[in-house]
Amino acid sequence: MLRAANNKFPPGPSDGIKRWSLGPLNNNPLEYFSMIARRFGDVAGLRVLNFRSIFINHPDTIEEVLVTNARRYSKGRVLRANRHVFGEGLLTSEGDFWLRQRRLVQPAFHRGRIASYAATMVAYAQRMLEGWRDGEERDAHQEMMRLTLQIVGKTLFDADVERDAQEVGKSLELLLELGANFRRTIFVPHWLPTPANLRAKREIAQIESILYRIIAERRASGHDAGDLLSMLLHAQDEDGSRMTDRQLRDEMITLFLAGHETTASTLSWTWWLLAQNPQVEAQLHAELDRVLGNRAPSLDDTANLAYTGHVITEALRLYPPAWGTARLALEDHELAGYPVKKGMGVVMAQWVVHRDPRWYDAPEEFRPERWEGEAPKHLPRFAYFPFGGGPRQCIGNAFALMEAQLVLATVAQKFRMRLVPGHSVVPLASITLRPRHGVRVVLEARRHAEENASVPMAKSAFADD
Ligand code: HEM
Repeated sequence: MLRAANNKFPPGPSDGIKRWSLGPLNNNPLEYFSMIARRFGDVAGLRVLNFRSIFINHPDTIEEVLVTNARRYSKGRVLRANRHVFGEGLLTSEGDFWLRQRRLVQPAFHRGRIASYAATMVAYAQRMLEGWRDGEERDAHQEMMRLTLQIVGKTLFDADVERDAQEVGKSLELLLELGANFRRTIFVPHWLPTPANLRAKREIAQIESILYRIIAERRASGHDAGDLLSMLLHAQDEDGSRMTDRQLRDEMITLFLAGHETTASTLSWTWWLLAQNPQVEAQLHAELDRVLGNRAPSLDDTANLAYTGHVITEALRLYPPAWGTARLALEDHELAGYPVKKGMGVVMAQWVVHRDPRWYDAPEEFRPERWEGEAPKHLPRFAYFPFGGGPRQCIGNAFALMEAQLVLATVAQKFRMRLVPGHSVVPLASITLRPRHGVRVVLEARRHAEENASVPMAKSAFADD
């Protein structure tokens, strides 16, 4: 742990440069935070206009902020600035209201409940593959975005969003692109009628209209589908009041946004990493062929698909969709030997910690086998935190890991992906980390899969088709 060095704001990159400059942060935040960690070590001071933040880069300090002293902080400025999108949903709400909502939503993510989503995940992945052809060129990221949106829609809200997926997908993508501009997100109030804000407003309205339609349909039918939407609709406060449409909209847009783009990006980065690492790909295929042969994966297989799981774990290390996390101090206190004043920001970057050579050998290399055996147990708890930690830890953690593992298994059983020559895959650090121009690939049907073309489909999710 760092000792109290002095009573001052820690040294940092804004010393000696123009105080209002957000250029490097805006243009390449991944490189910006990596540079700060290289130059200033485990603690650095960031200053933009009159906003001060402390950037922390040691797992123990991160644990202090996210877990041990979580009550000293609220969510950071970027998430707060996105409240017009998420409203009072789980990601952005605070205090007692958040706790009540978290307790309401939690049962939809209990282990037993998630297990019941496995067949839907596999069935939707198979439905996607029905349209894929050997030799065809596709954008793997678009495919994953559509798929994960459908899976969240079906499992949590029993809504087949197939017909809406394209519109919602486009709107979400635009919102995320706009969110990539931190200067605008933080400093330009969302109600100002700038062209970017007007665009965001249109896209939000587009998504809202679809969500309100799903809510209205469910209210009208009175049907208890036993899913999250029914649970939320029927939940009652102590005074007997129920959630309004606006509250339902906030939770739904949060779960759609938090729950589909992150998992889609995890899978997109995985396809990209696999295409560049043929030995890893071969080992993955060997496991799939050994455990599954040509049968569709199911929940029971996940324990035996250990290497498949490690591929996902490692992809999440190198390309964490939540690449950075921020908090605001609610009270004066001390952190890593420096005084933190109420209202000051605390910033941490999964992107940087996950690539720190103190915790990982050859940190830039894609090595799923590093997660085998005992070694991972010796890592500091917050040397790896793709899902955050403490009370605000991702509610969809287990959901996402199961989904990514099952989708990877279902698709890699049948196809490998070759990168389209000349297409550059570049990370865009928006609110999440995603491939800026997608991941363009040529599909290659696997011989093993072709030889056994008559695969029984996991149809259960389409019983009502
Ligand atoms: C690989 C996929 C995912 C990643 C990397 C991820 C990452 C995260 C992280 C880091 C947080 C904490 C943010 C903070 O502390 O400020 C978070 C929160 C959250 N995530 Fe995820 N997430 C993923 C998938 C999902 C899924 C599938 C769902 C739902 C279907 C989901 C729903 C949420 C919600 C609702 C919160 C807010 C929880 C709260 O504050 O109570 N996420 N996620």
